[in-house]
Amino acid sequence: MKCIIDTDPGADDVLALIMALNAAQMDILALTTVEGNATLAHTTANALRLLEYMGRTDIPVYAGSSEPLVGEFHHAYEVHGDEGLTVRLPDTDMPPANGDAVDFIIETALETPGEVTLFALGPLTNVARALMKEERLKDALRRVYIMGGTGDSGGNVTPYAEFNIYDDPHAANAVFGSGAPVTLLGLNISHQTSIARDDEVWFTGDAPGERLAARIVENWFELGQAEQRFSMHDPVTIMAALRPDLIRTRAATLSVETEGERVGEITADYDSGGSVDVAVGVESEEALSFMRGLLRG
Ligand code: BDR
Ligand code: CA
Repeated sequence: MKCIIDTDPGADDVLALIMALNAAQMDILALTTVEGNATLAHTTANALRLLEYMGRTDIPVYAGSSEPLVGEFHHAYEVHGDEGLTVRLPDTDMPPANGDAVDFIIETALETPGEVTLFALGPLTNVARALMKEERLKDALRRVYIMGGTGDSGGNVTPYAEFNIYDDPHAANAVFGSGAPVTLLGLNISHQTSIARDDEVWFTGDAPGERLAARIVENWFELGQAEQRFSMHDPVTIMAALRPDLIRTRAATLSVETEGERVGEITADYDSGGSVDVAVGVESEEALSFMRGLLRG
């Protein structure tokens, strides 16, 4: 599976990236970064440092958008820690790749039509800009796996909205309305695949990726004293791509509220079908155990 992972690391982003790096089936062509959980400088630095830590400096990192399509990004340092990550990874000399994330996504997908799978783990700004800039992209992408939306759960920024959609609702509308084949995984799925605060036996291995994941989760609970569970938000996209048998989806046409109190709220029309496969169910135990296995390497 040829993949590009668009990301704003981000504690749970890093868990998803470790899983992807450990997945033999995944050929990661590049990471592309977007502002979201933290500034673009922070998310790009975290992506580069992670690749250095995992010994994968062969994978390029293309920096992308530092502004949403409209307005300004809201960050989540209070959740993800200083510099956007609850663990400060060692510095790296690895520079970002020359070129823009949006152009990289377009050019790479068009080179091998139908082969590139795109993962979107942050606000959808880069993905939307790519789809708006190149009309052929929607047919060239094999599939886009997106962490976003609430499903039938409440929101995590407001009662109505999930962070990635809330941060750039115009981009979300552009992606959902583009006709690109999307699988959408929301809080309804990630809340069902979560690690409990008192679960001390979850991380027991000593591979570097698993050790880092353990420290990230431990420090995340330290930062959020009221939190009792760490939801595997971004990791569920990797799980869904590799084990589609573990989720249930329904095709829908989606629209996103862009203004007012309910900004970021998604409305789904399931009656007319559509290009977005919304995840509506997950085999929680099996999905968690699959993700745990991938973190182990
Ligand atoms: C999403 O928001 C971000 O804070 C996480 O990294 C995840 O992508 C969850 O709502
Ligand atoms: Ca993220």
